[in-house]
Amino acid sequence: MLAPMALLLGAVFITYKILQSIHRVYHDRRTAKALGCKPAAAIPSGILGISGFLTMMKAVKEKRWVEHIASFYETTGTTFVQTAIGGVEMYGTTDPENLKALLATQFQDFRLGTRHREFYPLLGNGIFTLDGAGWTHARGLLRPQFTRDQVADLDLMDGHVTRMIDLIPKDGSSFDIQRLFFQLTIDSATHFLFGESVGSMGSSSEAGILEKTAVGDAQGFAEAFNMSQEYLAARSRVLGFYWMINPKEFREANRRVHEVVDHYVRLALESRRHPEKQTGRYIFAEALAADNDDPRVLRDNMLNILLAGRDTTASLLSSAFFYLARHPDVWQRLRQTIVDEFGDGEHPNGDITHARMKDLRYLRYFLNEVLRLQPPVPLNFRVAAKDTSLPVGGGPDGKSPVYVRKGQVVTYSVYAMHRRTDLYGADAHEFRPERWEENSKRGWEYLPFNGGPRICLGQQYALAEASFTLVKLLQRFDRIENAQPEVQQPIIQCTLTMSHDAGVHVRLFSA
Ligand code: HEM
Repeated sequence: MLAPMALLLGAVFITYKILQSIHRVYHDRRTAKALGCKPAAAIPSGILGISGFLTMMKAVKEKRWVEHIASFYETTGTTFVQTAIGGVEMYGTTDPENLKALLATQFQDFRLGTRHREFYPLLGNGIFTLDGAGWTHARGLLRPQFTRDQVADLDLMDGHVTRMIDLIPKDGSSFDIQRLFFQLTIDSATHFLFGESVGSMGSSSEAGILEKTAVGDAQGFAEAFNMSQEYLAARSRVLGFYWMINPKEFREANRRVHEVVDHYVRLALESRRHPEKQTGRYIFAEALAADNDDPRVLRDNMLNILLAGRDTTASLLSSAFFYLARHPDVWQRLRQTIVDEFGDGEHPNGDITHARMKDLRYLRYFLNEVLRLQPPVPLNFRVAAKDTSLPVGGGPDGKSPVYVRKGQVVTYSVYAMHRRTDLYGADAHEFRPERWEENSKRGWEYLPFNGGPRICLGQQYALAEASFTLVKLLQRFDRIENAQPEVQQPIIQCTLTMSHDAGVHVRLFSA
């Protein structure tokens, strides 16, 4: 009796699902037509997207993930549709009109979608993971900290850059400057955020706190933080199957990172209770604690800013030196610009202030060009919150709108867009800061910091920090040599942000 009943229920269920799919297809076609949409060019990805997924995983393993995705745009067009693993269709786009819609004019139509559940174990409910009212609240909490006149504290930075310069070999031997930049930014970011640096460059007794935790020292903290991020990136690559990637190693790394941050949260809350003990210097965590005393909210927000601020700036500085080491003419011109304004290491000329750095146009063009070719956040995505469309990418000429179903993922590659020859000229793949002299006004085709309501909050902070570091280093050293002549193009390692897989090995000399 039970068996026929179960069979009947099964048949009803399957029929319902089939009818639902037919209805969905019909509904999508009708809506797409009403919106004037046409199909985008398709990337072959095999049944249920399996072959496309396997090719992508091979590219990830060979550190070609970012270039692999960029190659789709070169072969298929600036907007394409692809079957992702599991058989769901998703879009890829490098069309500035589509990015403007996705991030600004149709902001309400799109969400971060799955990012919250993929990133939650490390980042909790922070500005990077939240949508809707939660995000509005987090952005409101953090924004005032970034609208202060001079958000980056250059005095604080000075101590860390000086320490970094101490660690650079002065006998012309080669070293990995990327490694030092990652130490510099974790030291300065934790100093600015937590009030105390984790001291990864080993300058003082600052690292005392870490000895009491499971990470043991700054190196241990950085390792745990990096490992967690690698898992977050892996979870986001497999979309709906994110929950399958949750090994003990990942959970343990998250626990270690949280233990450290919680310690700083306690310090911030203590300083709130004892304002007389505050140093008078601006400390991000203390400013946050003045507005909110929930330890979990403080932990999530501090960790989100640490993630946002540390690797991105280290990535920018590392790429800057990657290109400087391979373009002696650019080194010469940039150094001359800096020395003319600020003097050299032996004869400094006044304070390095925000206002004076902003006047150095070539420095800005140089940074623009580095961020164009090696954007620290090369890939990103959004998810449709309702049935909607994007303005271009459909039809044989790619000029018609494309239909985006609710729940559908739209990925975008800023890396590939910044290399489009139709937008940047035939030499788009070449490093040439002078192009910004010819055209310094760029719109949605230049997006290293994102755009629209979720534009990077730390843009000014990052540019000031990177500019200051460059000024100090180029004042101090007058010649650079590339110690990796075999590495002609960057080998990109990409988790959430990009770095150079082979490091950036250089030699620096002073007269
Ligand atoms: C060169 C350095 C940097 C680059 C290229 C960069 C790039 C970006 C990008 C592309 C986003 C958008 C992410 C998304 O919506 O999916 C973003 C968001 C953000 N960035 Fe940056 N960033 C940099 C440095 C910083 C620094 C130093 C801080 C803070 C100290 C910071 C704080 C933030 C925050 C809080 C957000 C989230 C904004 C929101 O969702 O409302 N960033 N950044």
